[in-house]
Amino acid sequence: MADSTTTSRGNWNSKLGFILAAAGSAVGLGNIWGFPTQVAENGGAAFLFIYLLCAFAIGFPVMVAELTMGRKTGRNPVGAFKALGDNKLMYSAIGMWGILCGVMILAFYTVIAGWTVSYVFEEFFFYFGMSEWATWISDTGNGPINAVFATVFMGGTVSIILGGVSDGIERATKLMMPLLIAILVIMIGYVLTQPGAGVGIKEYLFPDFSMVTPGLIFSAMGQAFFSLSLGMGALITYGSYLSKKENIPEAAAYVTLTDATIAFLAGLLIIPTMYMAQAQGVPIFDESGNLLASVALIFQVLPELFHEIGGLLGLIFGASFFFLLSLAALTSTISLLEVPVSYAIDEHDMSRNKAAKLIGGGVLIISLIISFDTSLIDVFVVIFNEVGLPLGGFLICIFLGYYWKTDNALKEMENGYPGIMTSIFAKVWPIFIKVIAPLAILYNLLSGLDII
Ligand code: TRP
Repeated sequence: MADSTTTSRGNWNSKLGFILAAAGSAVGLGNIWGFPTQVAENGGAAFLFIYLLCAFAIGFPVMVAELTMGRKTGRNPVGAFKALGDNKLMYSAIGMWGILCGVMILAFYTVIAGWTVSYVFEEFFFYFGMSEWATWISDTGNGPINAVFATVFMGGTVSIILGGVSDGIERATKLMMPLLIAILVIMIGYVLTQPGAGVGIKEYLFPDFSMVTPGLIFSAMGQAFFSLSLGMGALITYGSYLSKKENIPEAAAYVTLTDATIAFLAGLLIIPTMYMAQAQGVPIFDESGNLLASVALIFQVLPELFHEIGGLLGLIFGASFFFLLSLAALTSTISLLEVPVSYAIDEHDMSRNKAAKLIGGGVLIISLIISFDTSLIDVFVVIFNEVGLPLGGFLICIFLGYYWKTDNALKEMENGYPGIMTSIFAKVWPIFIKVIAPLAILYNLLSGLDII
């Protein structure tokens, strides 16, 4: 077995580097594509409200749990469960389930991420009057094009993972995250001053609580786990590179806040943009009167709007928006690939080089299958995201709360947070891990799946 001390496996260089990397993992298509889409599908502000509740009341405590398990053991998810679970197979299986979910999520995520890159080209083709090329490259049902862009995206992901923890992941996200936030804020500034945007803001910010159904809560919880990168051990892995000097609850709070803020901002951009598009004559409702959502929202309404704006400004907005999406996706795919890679390095003595290429290549095969049948994405989302991640989160809570014990976790957190034992956090967090989060997750899973 490989040496499991953190220094030989790699380490974050700085606290900011870690927070940006973890926030980079969290901020992704889930925030900029998934969240606004879900808001549009689920009655606007009501979804926003329930989502924030899920993120802070369930997501944040689970994030602290994952980071602590990772730092205590200095291992990947399987290794961490093995070490804390006295080598019992039953517990290592939780880690294996997480890795499986991560691999499957990475497979479909790579295809969608490929679309974001192809749409950068679409915007340029349109600007230069090559509208046939623009239509051709932006056809998300075109298998060969999907396959090419998925391959390009996986190539980019593997090349960053090859660079390792601080020189690869940390350096790349430190550069990309601030750029992403800047592009987002500039675009919001523009959209909010345009005609039609006001209606969208109202839809987004004034909740109609009669829209809250078990289905909505189920979606909001799945979205919170996905968006915060929880439930499959990505943050166990990132926690394993964290120094004992860092304050885990504080770092987790920053990451949760950053992620929720960016999701909120993305909604503030996309929802008003839809209404602004409508004011410009772009249809935003389908035949049955529902807001266009899912693939159509980002990959149809928005490009139409950018074309409507037209000229150089349309190109700048269009190309930077899809470039922004690609960046956000890349900082997320690296965290998804790092999990199985760290598992292969720790548990199977593989070199980083071999593990990244082998696993990246393997996942790409699944992505290629999805490229030719994109309806698989919906199936994967239900199994590995909406059910898989909350289930993983549930098992993490039960394991930590009743086997490893919250007191032991708090002792680990004392490194970097010396006064923790007498803090309110030490009184409240265990209740969330042992009772509130698992019950809420279980109830939601059962009612969302129509079992109760
Ligand atoms: N959080 C990312 C997003 O919002 C996706 C992601 C990255 C993820 N790593 C993960 C989801 C680990 C679940 C588990 O797009």
